[in-house]
Amino acid sequence: MERERITLTGAPETMLATLYGRALDTRSREPILNDTAAVDAVRRIDYDFRRTGMTASSAAGVAMRAKQLDDWTREFLRAHDHATVLHLACGLDTRVFRLDPGPHTRWVDVDLPQVVTLRERLLPVPTGDYRLIAASVTDDGWLAEVPDDRPTVVVAEGLTMYLREHEVKALVTRVVDRFPSGELLFDVYGSFGIRVQKLVPAVRRSGATLHWGLDDPRSLEEWGVTLVEDVRSLELPEIARMPASGRVPLRIMAKLPGVKDVGRILKYRF
Ligand SMILES: C[S@@+](CC[C@H](N)C(=O)[O-])C[C@H]1O[C@@H](n2cnc3c(N)ncnc32)[C@H](O)[C@@H]1O
Repeated sequence: MERERITLTGAPETMLATLYGRALDTRSREPILNDTAAVDAVRRIDYDFRRTGMTASSAAGVAMRAKQLDDWTREFLRAHDHATVLHLACGLDTRVFRLDPGPHTRWVDVDLPQVVTLRERLLPVPTGDYRLIAASVTDDGWLAEVPDDRPTVVVAEGLTMYLREHEVKALVTRVVDRFPSGELLFDVYGSFGIRVQKLVPAVRRSGATLHWGLDDPRSLEEWGVTLVEDVRSLELPEIARMPASGRVPLRIMAKLPGVKDVGRILKYRF
């Protein structure tokens, strides 16, 4: 099998860490996600995955975050027979295969052009009403390519920290103005997480810079959205299933002021 050689750097390179995390989790004894498409994609990539610094614990963390966002997306699709899923910064995430949406769901994946090119080469094309858009989410034009006729769930995993606050605000405002109703699901770093970003191997080694941290999720309500769920990354339910070596440090961190808000997964309605 000819493997795809990777030459990405910066934010696009970090998607290899999350992909690898989901593949490692899937190959573990008690997987949180069953992401066999991630395992297949990793096999087809020529890249030194040690650069990601992923361990069994950090892979479980990536899988837990993905599972929370999968569960919320699934709930939205259950409640809305005809809906659009707008999956921003999709990277090589195989969420569309994990969720396998029905015939009445429109699915749109978006990422930067160099990532989209790679995605087209590495992942199968999903069946059904599917579209892959190459654009920066900070640009204006691409959103017009997404029909505005249905309730829309916007999912953005591992994206907001790479943007600046004014870019996140412009994106949220554009989404809220365009679609009739929907939800926004995304994870954020807290300001402590931004301060210690270089401790994350995938960020340090790719040369990426994280900008935006959020400590008060309610403050975004000024942008026209309503907070409905706020889950600390250190309090995700699957942590209880981790072996003690992974679980105990997280339980301690979850009690430390500042540190406990290192990351969150948020659901807003509009
Ligand atoms: C940590 S990866 C997460 C990828 C994917 N969501 C996952 O969980 O595997 C960060 C992703 O954000 C994308 N990204 C960063 N800035 C972006 C922008 N302005 N527009 C679109 N995508 C962007 C990168 O290309 C990369 O795929």
